[in-house]
Amino acid sequence: MSDRRVYLISVDDLLPGQITAEPIYTPDGLLVVASQARLTDALIMQFEQLKIPHVKVHMPVVDDEESAGIPFALPDSTTVELREDTPLQIEFKNGKEAYLVLASMLNVARTQVIAGKYPSLPEKTIRLKVEQMIGTYRRNYRALMILSRTNMRQHESVQHALNRAIVSLAISIQITNDQEEIIDTVIAALVADIGMYSIPDSLTKNPGKLSAEDKKIIESHPLVSAKLLRTKGFSNRVLTNVLDHHERFDGTGYPRGMQGFEISVGGAVIGLADTYCAMTSKRSYKGSFSPTKALSELNSKRNVAFQGDLVEVLIRNVGIFPIGTLVELSNGEVGIVNRPNPDDPLLPRVTLVMGSEGKRKNYLTQINLADLEDVQIVKALDPDKFGMDVSSFLFMP
Ligand SMILES: [Fe+2]
Repeated sequence: MSDRRVYLISVDDLLPGQITAEPIYTPDGLLVVASQARLTDALIMQFEQLKIPHVKVHMPVVDDEESAGIPFALPDSTTVELREDTPLQIEFKNGKEAYLVLASMLNVARTQVIAGKYPSLPEKTIRLKVEQMIGTYRRNYRALMILSRTNMRQHESVQHALNRAIVSLAISIQITNDQEEIIDTVIAALVADIGMYSIPDSLTKNPGKLSAEDKKIIESHPLVSAKLLRTKGFSNRVLTNVLDHHERFDGTGYPRGMQGFEISVGGAVIGLADTYCAMTSKRSYKGSFSPTKALSELNSKRNVAFQGDLVEVLIRNVGIFPIGTLVELSNGEVGIVNRPNPDDPLLPRVTLVMGSEGKRKNYLTQINLADLEDVQIVKALDPDKFGMDVSSFLFMP
């Protein structure tokens, strides 16, 4: 499937191979290239030299020709509808309660492993709280997605584990009807990095300067995690998912270098959710993060690091721009992504918070980018630069 919709793209973010959607002129009105032309590096460079700021192109969202075989029958993205049956406030509170219990267990486990002890992770309580989260997501998916974008003031690694678990849940629910399988994926997403805490900070915080020996230690963490969890009554499937969460589709992962469908589905889901959470975290938005960059980064991982269909499920159901992303629109207005759009992930619903003149809006309005012909997202912005707590804007209907 390819998307023939027109996107306004900053020249910095153009990619060779994209097709122009209209003739491109110099600021003086001279034709540079006709409509329907395929971009080359030379053309993009010419746009830069001519100081052409934006170009309208057709941009493929996904290219199914590149898809490899699939190990399970993947349903359409709409198979499990993203529902909002119960009030957001109630479900947010419900999800938050489960989140905080799980966070406190992870915090305790972290301290224990750092001290060289076995973690006291109570499997039954974790399972119960994970079920509570899944229930919340099924009744009101936004409650959990907002939670995953809220600063819950937890240790960075604990917050990352919980966000990764929520994104794993959102993917998992679309690819299997087996509730036990979903639970085992989410549990594994929570506890997969427990083994990391036994590794000194000096190694985990300096990934750029690792010696071969240090790399080996880091890459052993899925095994260490599984070993620590084995004594706590977690299912074999949880342990397998934990072991596989750094394996990659093309065989470049660790610890075993498994390939393709040798990797457990849960392990692959967690690996993808892990990458996505790192990519879309607030830190990654320092400066700006354009739709093209986000999309091309995710697409470049299709059938390389991750099974292509899993990437598509993620893009459609969680979005290129997750709920709560602050975005600049092509008309100069600034908004916050309010709901993803499974049919066109680059055109979500947005709450407008700032006019093109840079002034905060007195009355918040929502727009559906899919309904507007000429307005698109130009880039994602760093909310800190605007002194904005985006989650507070997400509770409007
Ligand atoms: Fe890990």
